[in-house]
Parts: sequence; C-alpha cells; structure tokens
Amino acid sequence: MSKLKIAVQKSGRLNEDSMRILKEVGISIDNGKDQLKASARNFPLEVFYLRNGDIPQYLRDGVVDAAIIGENVLIEKGNDLNIIERLGFSKCKVSIAVPKSSTAKTLKDLEGKRIATSYPNTVNQFLDKASIDAQLHIINGSVEIAPNIGLADGICDIVSSGSTLFKNGLKEIEVLLKSEAVLATSPRISQENQTIIDRLQFRLQSVLKGRA
Ligand code: PRP
Ligand code: MG
Repeated sequence: MSKLKIAVQKSGRLNEDSMRILKEVGISIDNGKDQLKASARNFPLEVFYLRNGDIPQYLRDGVVDAAIIGENVLIEKGNDLNIIERLGFSKCKVSIAVPKSSTAKTLKDLEGKRIATSYPNTVNQFLDKASIDAQLHIINGSVEIAPNIGLADGICDIVSSGSTLFKNGLKEIEVLLKSEAVLATSPRISQENQTIIDRLQFRLQSVLKGRA
C-alpha cells in the first residue's frame, strides 16, 4: 500500500509544532531522534526530516508529496508551489531591522546601503517594487550579527519573539510579510497519495477548528 511522504523541518521551532499537530490528529510516529525518516504506525505516512531551504525543491521534484513548511520559505523559494491549508502556528514576520542608533525609518532609507539576509528573493521583490537600490549580502544564519561586525547597514530576517533583534541591538523598521506554517503539496503527487493527503487535511481541519 502506498504511503504519503511528508517533509517537516529537521530541527527548530517548526519541527516541534509540526510533530505536535501530527500527534493531535492522531498519527503516532516512531521517532528515533537521529533518524531522517520515520513511519507512522496508524496512518499511511512517512515523515522526512529535511532542511527548510531544501523542501521546495523536493516538493517540485516529487521526492516528497507534501510538506509542513513556513510560508516565508515558500515565498522565498517556492512561489510556484501549492498551499492547500494554512496551519495557524509558527507565526513569524520577515522584517527589516537596523541598529538602534540608525536614523533609517523605512526600507526606503536603505537606498544605496547594504542589507544582510537569508531571504534575497523576498528582499529583492520588495526593493524592486519600491524602486530602491540596495546591495544584498546573503548569509545563511546569524544574520543579526552582520551590522555589528560592519558587514551591513541593515538586515532582513525572521522575527518571532523579537529577542534576537533585541540582543543584537537592532530595531525593526519595516515588516515585509507575515508568515505561518502551511501545508503544501507536490505538483507530482499520485492519485493514490492525493487521497491520503485529503484524509490528512480533513483531520487537520478538525483540529484547527478545535484550536480556534
Ligand atoms: C531564527 C531567525 C531569527 C530568530 C528569530 O534564527 O533567523 O534570527 O530565529 O526569533 P526571535 O525573534 O524569537 O528571536 P535561528 O535561531 O533559527 O538561527 P539561525 O538564524 O542561525 O538559523
Ligand atoms: Mg537567526
């Protein structure tokens, strides 16, 4: 019998929230913590633990049938992919921030300046729309350190509690977008697995209704 392959974040906040909701819909997963793949005991489902940034390509290629993923990652790398359900958890913002001492008050004030980010496509989209010319420095993590080490005048990154900004002496000046976890599907999903995702989505909807 066919199993639905679903990707979830390998580690981090989205991982915990994703595993929690699968549990809440009554799916129990054998979880060897170091395993990159796990099977559900009572539902035709296999979970693949992957890096966030890799998930859009896996969906596109049909390596996985579905994913629980941050909408912000899809906006950055998977605009072509299909969101079938908004899951209401792991809410965050993608924001522009600058050092507390900076006089910049909006993205426009970063004209001609350097912005460090892990979300170049997203930032470029907003820069283009506002006809702002800025120089992007792409870094994969610890973006908030960039202004302190003289690498950038501002940053664009995820803000959740705001504590990383605070600890690094930065202030948010513009929210580019708001994000939450979503359920997305592969364009290459088989008929058989589509019926499984329909069942999963139905269960998710009941749990989400109960949470609201
Ligand atoms: C994420 C994100 C922000 C921070 C936001 O980083 O890149 O830096 O969390 O959360 P907060 O507003 O609650 O502080 P993460 O800790 O995942 O590390 P990384 O950037 O090095 O991947
Ligand atoms: Mg970070």
